[in-house]
Amino acid sequence: MTMHQRGHLLDGKTLSETIQGEIAQQVTELKKKGHRAPHLAAVLVGSDGASETYVSHKVKACERVGFESTLVRLPDTIVEQELMDVIDELNNDDNIDGFIVQLPLPKHIRVDKVLERIKPSKDVDGFHPINTGRMVANLPAYKPATPDGIVEMINRFNIPTQGCHVVVIGRSLIVGTPISLLLSRDGYPGDATVTLCHRYTKDLASYTRRADILIVAVGIPGFITADMVKEGATVIDVGITRVADESKKSGFSLKGDVAFEEVAPKAAFITPVPGGVGPMTIASLLKNTLLAAKGAVYGK
Ligand code: GUN
Repeated sequence: MTMHQRGHLLDGKTLSETIQGEIAQQVTELKKKGHRAPHLAAVLVGSDGASETYVSHKVKACERVGFESTLVRLPDTIVEQELMDVIDELNNDDNIDGFIVQLPLPKHIRVDKVLERIKPSKDVDGFHPINTGRMVANLPAYKPATPDGIVEMINRFNIPTQGCHVVVIGRSLIVGTPISLLLSRDGYPGDATVTLCHRYTKDLASYTRRADILIVAVGIPGFITADMVKEGATVIDVGITRVADESKKSGFSLKGDVAFEEVAPKAAFITPVPGGVGPMTIASLLKNTLLAAKGAVYGK
């Protein structure tokens, strides 16, 4: 890789560290004023390897910025009602500002019911339909961490969006749907024309080749190849699939949805995997938790 290409890397790891430094500063100021530390809880059901990793990254990030954190581990045999009871406890615990339930959940648990049980004012993942609705209506709301992190990245790297064609692939409620909304809203970093593609899109490449900003969240390693990308596009890769890799101590490496080596030379800006969108998600979760501690979204 040449120096020229490296200059175009959207380094989410370094940016996330910068944002975490800013958050740590605000925590120090809160504490000076006599407030306790912001407190995030994470509920982990079962022991899926990837979920374990994500939750441990979140807990470590809390430590770095001076937050309290609590990890609630539950067996994957837990029944829905027991999980609801845990959520009620967290809803009613004044020492906890916000909490998340790590997804995915075991199949016997209805994820919609679980997310709806979370008190909207503590829903720092922004998955409760009240927060979705408030976001759509341009009211103060917790925004889902991954889309918020992508928007923050676009903002801090001063990537123009007004009148740009953004193509999003993947329409999940966690990434594709909210990022489409946020980038088409009034004002920077929005004002883009957004095309939301998904598994039934015909001739996908005819859309991706016209993208000024291409955002890919499909979970298929190397899905986007160089021929699908316009020269000078910004490419944001949300994929993080574990692929067997015997050269790694863990036995796997993380692969994005974009064939990085062939796409990077064509792109003006591109996120690496790992070290791109992932760390930005963490920064946004911390931001939401700080908002919760301050009562900035729903009041105190
Ligand atoms: N699973 C994949 N992304 C997320 C996320 O942002 N939050 C939670 N809780 N689970 C996830």
